[in-house]
Amino acid sequence: MRTQVAIIGAGPSGLLLGQLLSRAGIANVVIERQSAEYVLGRIRAGVLEQVCVDLLDEAGVGARMHREGLVHGGFEMLFRGRRHRIDMHGLTGGKNVMVYGQTEVTRDLMDARSAAGSPTVYSAANVAVHDFDTAQPYVTYDTDGPQGRQSHRLDCDIIAGCDGYHGVCRASVPRSAITEYEKVYPFGWLGILADVPPVSHELIYANTERGFALCSMRSPTRSRYYVQCALTDSVDAWSDEAFWKELRSRLDPQAREQLVTGPSIEKSIAPLRSFVAEPMRFGRLFLAGDAAHIVPPTGAKGLNLAATDVKYLSSALIEFFQEHSSAGIDHYSERCLRRVWKAERFSWWFTSLMHRFPDTAGFGQKVQEAELDYLVHSEAASRSLAENYVGLPLNFGE
Ligand code: APR
Ligand code: PHB
Repeated sequence: MRTQVAIIGAGPSGLLLGQLLSRAGIANVVIERQSAEYVLGRIRAGVLEQVCVDLLDEAGVGARMHREGLVHGGFEMLFRGRRHRIDMHGLTGGKNVMVYGQTEVTRDLMDARSAAGSPTVYSAANVAVHDFDTAQPYVTYDTDGPQGRQSHRLDCDIIAGCDGYHGVCRASVPRSAITEYEKVYPFGWLGILADVPPVSHELIYANTERGFALCSMRSPTRSRYYVQCALTDSVDAWSDEAFWKELRSRLDPQAREQLVTGPSIEKSIAPLRSFVAEPMRFGRLFLAGDAAHIVPPTGAKGLNLAATDVKYLSSALIEFFQEHSSAGIDHYSERCLRRVWKAERFSWWFTSLMHRFPDTAGFGQKVQEAELDYLVHSEAASRSLAENYVGLPLNFGE
């Protein structure tokens, strides 16, 4: 089999890239290790920047998002028992974010891909990328069918590594060609999804002496809540009751009263990590999304960053195939990394501001409260937070 772009991974990065390429008439095949149901079972953040919303529109998959997504013009910061609103819309000259789950984005992209008839291989085993340091790269993988296991070879011009943090693409690059930067945080997020109305119509980010908490949502009837927990905690040891009790203890009196609890439909613990691999291009292999970088979830930049990598990559590949110019692909890694590091900086800062760090204890808490007090009362500081939260423009600093 032959195609122009072999895309490894059917997460949001791979599916969005496939969609943008297909619309430009560039042939592509997506190869995914898991089943479609498994991919759709993963629950991740749900705040889309305007740039990401625009990209989903450009890809022709924005209709349901505009119908069902919730447009937010602000969010709240809770500390010392009081909430303070950050008026994102007012502070950024009219920008908003869209609250719409990543699972739904993935579903819309999958539906569009099958409607367009673009080939996708799910449940591919032993995916391997070859010869990407030449102009004739190829991918091999196995599938299980009625006749047993079959081996396949997909020849292509370009390989897009959209296979997430644990994928095969980055791992296939010689160690000497890649530099990795990493920071691991000494806590996790315990998250719960429940069919109860959100405690407030906007998101609440809480800094408390007991640790961070976040009140988010998926719809007017479905809430997503998180509390900072120890990395050694096990999800089974957290009953729903224990979760609600802990969340309630981290809220202000009004929110505590308004909180509606109910059975969880998903509960999980996620570790927090900052990670960047440089560069993002190795010959004919291009990394995008979580395959190249991870941010801690505070501020929900992960999906947004993946989407802008994909925008840069699709533009570069369209130039490569349609205009026979390698200017875009030659600039891809540097262009992405400039944006990536700004989002890494923001996510690290927001994480550091909001969580309880075991090693800084009371002093750390006091300094955080002083910074939060400054942040919500200084227009300059609030605007900087709002500007980063809604997302920097695609061509920022260019
Ligand atoms: N072969 C094929 N597919 C693979 C392989 C492999 N060896 N390894 C991993 N995959 C698949 C995974 O099963 C997953 O479906 O690649 C996909 C990667 O998807 P994501 O992890 O969702 O990464 P990405 O598409 O870059 O999305 C970024 O996801 O984790 C969040 O915060 C992140 O919101 C951001 C978004
Ligand atoms: C979420 O809804 O899952 C979410 C929202 C905002 C964040 C992180 C996660 O900053």
